[in-house]
This record gives sequence, C-alpha cells and structure tokens, in this order.
Amino acid sequence: MHVVLGVGGGIAAYKAAELVRALQTRGHQVQVVMTQAAQEFVRPLTFSALTGQRVITGLWPQDSDPGELSSAVEHIAVAQQSEVLIVAPATADLVAKFATGLADDFLSTLYLAFTGTTILAAAMNTAMWQHPATRQNLDTLRTRGCLIVEPDEGWLACGTLGAGRLPDPVRIAEYLDSVTHHKRDLEGEVVLVTAGPTQEPIDPVRYISNRSSGKMGYAIAEAAAHRGARVILVSGPVKIAPPHSVETIQVRTAHEMRTAVMEHLAEATIIIKAAAVADYFVSEIPKQKLKKTATRLSLELDPTPDILAEVGQRKGDRLLIGFAAETQNLMEEARRKMASKNCDMVVANLVNQDGLGFESDQNEVEIITRAGQRTHVGPADKTEIAEKILDQVASLHLSLRV
Ligand code: PMT
Repeated sequence: MHVVLGVGGGIAAYKAAELVRALQTRGHQVQVVMTQAAQEFVRPLTFSALTGQRVITGLWPQDSDPGELSSAVEHIAVAQQSEVLIVAPATADLVAKFATGLADDFLSTLYLAFTGTTILAAAMNTAMWQHPATRQNLDTLRTRGCLIVEPDEGWLACGTLGAGRLPDPVRIAEYLDSVTHHKRDLEGEVVLVTAGPTQEPIDPVRYISNRSSGKMGYAIAEAAAHRGARVILVSGPVKIAPPHSVETIQVRTAHEMRTAVMEHLAEATIIIKAAAVADYFVSEIPKQKLKKTATRLSLELDPTPDILAEVGQRKGDRLLIGFAAETQNLMEEARRKMASKNCDMVVANLVNQDGLGFESDQNEVEIITRAGQRTHVGPADKTEIAEKILDQVASLHLSLRV
C-alpha cells in the first residue's frame, strides 16, 4: 500500500522514524512529508535514509533541487498516488489547520487534496489535548471521516503526566492494517446495527432519554461496511453524520426501533445491538404540554419492548451480539444478559468511568462469547474498539459456519 506519512512538529517527531520501519515491515511503501516545525526536531536525512526517497519538506522547490517537481502541483500528484495519509505526530496546530481547511504548507495542502483514508496519531501536551478547541477540531475531523488514534498516557516531554504521548508506532501500523480492509472478512454478510438512544415522549415537547451519542454503534456500522458487509443501521436521534455506504433508518422511540429491526431481521445475518434503548415509556401521552404546578408530578411508565430478547427468540442461525451497559457487577450482568436474551456474544462496558462509554470518543469493553471466551479491549478510541469487536464477530461467524 502507498502510504504518505506526514510528520508534524512535536518532540515525538523522532518516533515517526520507527513508524516508517513498522510500516515498511508490513510491506507498505512510505513517502515522508515533513512540516517546517518537524524539521526543527528531526533532519529530513533520517527519513530519506530509511525510505530511500526524497523527503518532501515544502511547497516550493528547494535551492538544492530547483528542477524538482516540488511545485504547486506536487501535492496533487502525491495525493493521487497514495492510498493512506498518516499524520504522526498530529499536533494541535495540524489538527486545527485540517479542521479549518487552512492550506499554507505542503502537508495541510496535501490533506485537502487527499481523498483516501486519513489517520491522525495525535501527540501533544495534556492540556492542549483536552482543550475544547482541540476537542471540537477532532470532532469535526471525525465527522469528515478522519480516523484518530488517541494518544497514550504517561510522562510527557514537558514534564507533565497525562494523555498526550504519541501511540506506540507498532500500534499505529497495526491500526492501519485493521482499518484498510486487508480484511474483507464480512463480505457477503448483512449486518444490522442499532445505535444511539431512544426518546420516549412524555408530552408534546418533552421526552425521557439517555446520554448515548451513537458513536459506538456508528463506528461499528462504518467498520463493518469497510470489511465488505452490507450494513443496515437503525439509529435513534443523534448529532453525528451517518457513515458512507450504510443504509440508515432513523427512528425515535423504542417501539419505532423495534419495528425497524423486525422489518430488516429476515435480511440480516449478523445483528449488533449497540443502541441504548429506553427501558420505559409513557403509553398515554397527553395531547397538551404538562402544566407546571407546585405539587409533585408522577409519571406512569410502562416497560418498552425488549428488542434484544425478541431478536434472541427469532434469530435462527443468525449471529446476535448484545451490549451490556452496567455500573456494577459487569461480568455477572453481561453473562445473565447473554443467557436470558440468547446472545452469541455480549460487549460489556462499565459506564460510570470518567471519559469512557456514553458520549465519549473512547470506550473500554469486555467481549464475552457464549463459549466463555473473554477479550478485554481499551481504553481506546471507539473506532479501534469497533474493529476489535468485528474481529471477534468475524472469527465466531467463521467458526459457526465450519
Ligand atoms: O452511543 P455512545 O455514546 O457511543 O455510547 C455507547 C454505549 C455506552 C451506549 C454502548 O457502548 C452500549 O453500552 N450500548 C448498550 C446500552 C444499553 O442500553 O445497555 P443495556 O445493558 O441497558 O441493554 C442491554 C442490551 O439490550 C443492549 O444491547 C440494548 O441495545 C438492548 N435493549 C435494551 C432495552 C430494550 N428495550 N431493548 C433492547 O434491545
């Protein structure tokens, strides 16, 4: 695979040399582009020695090679020749540039001209990583399809302890392999994914809901599509854009979600229920807005249909993966749900950990199978978690087929 590696100007720039090696070991051809700031940390010579190719260091021809193609069109040529753009370290400055579409050097110009898979391996000071501006820029880039490899935690060069270290180069290279669909292991499958919350109205203007953002389910839907599956995504109300090449059915309530799932059950071969479905609803919704009074208000709630349990009864030889969102007794509850809802696999997550689970870009899960296999994943970006869940799904599917 032709990979262009953009090296940003951070202390971790030296680790990009190890990343070049890790990519080459996996058979990728690497073209390195360095920002001006990156060249303050590492000399281009390091990368040209490793790759045997000229390192691109700017938009304009260098004095040393005035006849080179390094001109206003080289970024287009590199964009067209490469299948993947990895930026490591992706600094706060580069993330901001990409999010706003600024194109004032080779790497930011290349990013705009590039239509393949973009992976940003972030590395920066913890406060910069957590700054609302950086969070917002990352959200923007995720929405546009960029894949973010979250930084590791540990001691940073600035002397602080926290998130911000460039992830291990081998982990970045493995991540590339997992997302660039060397695996087409879901080809021919129809994967039905549920995602997001449901909203249960209590009057014409109010509803009961939960904090699900849809990120976990959407990441699974997108990853399954990349691995060759036809994907039907049944989504509650969320603020994120549906992934490309996925058929998305928007629903609001648990009853609507149930209807959509049952309508598509016959087509599905694998069902993954990541949605946070409300457990209760108001069956008699008043026609007018409830009036505020000085007295206590009681709502009468009825249980919603348990979609997972119903699919479990009707699944036949389909593979059924449920989620378990718990705040205590994680494994006990996950196993209980697996048995009572006839799941083949359960993805269990503790949802009372700061910065993980609901709303967050990260999660930490235990994947358990009916046969008793247990795999711990994370804390990691939900895109990574999604890939690991699908690895398990694909291998379980294969083992049940043979
Ligand atoms: O959306 P995000 O912000 O990315 O957050 C991800 C997540 C925390 C929502 C996700 O990882 C997760 O845990 N989803 C399941 C949430 C949930 O409702 O869990 P539960 O333990 O209450 O339900 C167990 C299973 O039954 C789930 O598969 C759920 O989809 C299903 N269910 C629940 C109730 C119901 N009436 N019908 C169902 O099918």
